[in-house]
Amino acid sequence: MDFQMLLAASFYLLCLIHSLPFSYAQTDRVPALFIFGDSTVDVGNNNELPTIIKANFPPYGRDYINQTPTGRFSNGKLATDFIAKGLRFPSSQPPYLSGQVGGRNLLLGANFASAGSGYHDTTAQLFQAISLTEQLENYKEYRGRVIEIIREENATSLFSRGIHLVSTGSSDFVQNYYINPLVNIVYNVDQFSDLLIQDYANFVEDLYQLGARKIGVTTLPPIGCLPAAITLFGLGSDECVERLNRNAMEFNQRLNSTSEQLKIRLPGLNLVVVDVYQTLYGLITRPGESGFTETRHGCCGTGLVETSILCNALSLDTCYNATEYVFWDTFHPSEAANEHIANDLIVAGYHLVY
Ligand SMILES: *[C@@H]1O[C@H](CO)[C@@H](O)[C@H](O)[C@H]1NC(C)=O
Ligand SMILES: *[C@@H]1O[C@H](CO)[C@@H](O)[C@H](O)[C@H]1NC(C)=O
Ligand SMILES: *[C@@H]1O[C@H](CO)[C@@H](O)[C@H](O)[C@H]1NC(C)=O
Repeated sequence: MDFQMLLAASFYLLCLIHSLPFSYAQTDRVPALFIFGDSTVDVGNNNELPTIIKANFPPYGRDYINQTPTGRFSNGKLATDFIAKGLRFPSSQPPYLSGQVGGRNLLLGANFASAGSGYHDTTAQLFQAISLTEQLENYKEYRGRVIEIIREENATSLFSRGIHLVSTGSSDFVQNYYINPLVNIVYNVDQFSDLLIQDYANFVEDLYQLGARKIGVTTLPPIGCLPAAITLFGLGSDECVERLNRNAMEFNQRLNSTSEQLKIRLPGLNLVVVDVYQTLYGLITRPGESGFTETRHGCCGTGLVETSILCNALSLDTCYNATEYVFWDTFHPSEAANEHIANDLIVAGYHLVY
């Protein structure tokens, strides 16, 4: 290792130790953050919808600021909250549907994500969530409001320098494909993945046509290790479901190769696929290295089935302290795990900032 590498490595370590993971420093490099996707990044859009996929009641949010259940599917912060903080935003981008996106906040971006949605619009329709297509429509409406205020010439720079994050896809498999005969009889898993990838490519292209130039997309997590997936598809075993993890890895490969093609086809596009699979898989298979002790059970309730409305104030046996749990409920990481994911996202997304 030469000296410069050593220097870079120690700087990197220092940043990790000081949990403000990267001194990305000025927000003016990244003027705004736009977030799309599912429950991994929804900060309360679903509160406004007639859906059962919600998390705006205790014990959700019990470790969040003021112990508030905001609609985040976690005991505390999401990975994107840590990212917004790392980028020095004064606060996380609010949910677009909440009416809090306005005034001074307006130009810092917004969160369009909706729990229960996926790449494929039918996934959202099953749960009356906001599909990715509708999230894009909301983004267009938002964009129109921004252009009215700062006019086209300045808006162009805001949207091309702002980071667009997409985190979705798990629900397409776990809450749609694997349990929905209308889909899994018609398509084999490869064909279904191809459909999702096509939806993904269209979404990126639409964002690009609207002026986005910096886009980060997360891979699928190891969906076979989600506590709910082990309960539902594990055939009584307590191990991660290999078949599901294999599907996720194959999807992730396609995500990568399609993204490479998109970068060639769309000049000036800075597109980064961020691997959350390995991060989460590492926490689950080698928990001790990061201070975790529990990987099979979510903290909420028994930790085998509870998520959304099944995880509530009446859930028995909810753990006292979620810090050593990788999962808060049976689908969603704890705040402690989200912080690990965010650190890796920030390192991987480095090229989006500079
Ligand atoms: C556009 O940006 C420039 C430089 O920051 C600023 O002086 C100007 O007032 C902005 N225009 C509008 C319409 O906001
Ligand atoms: C695809 O994967 C390769 C190898 O891991 C990586 O170098 C490349 O940056 C990835 N592509 C995108 C668009 O993230
Ligand atoms: C949970 O445990 C962590 C360390 O294991 C500790 O720092 C934290 O204060 C605990 N939280 C509560 C609410 O007891």
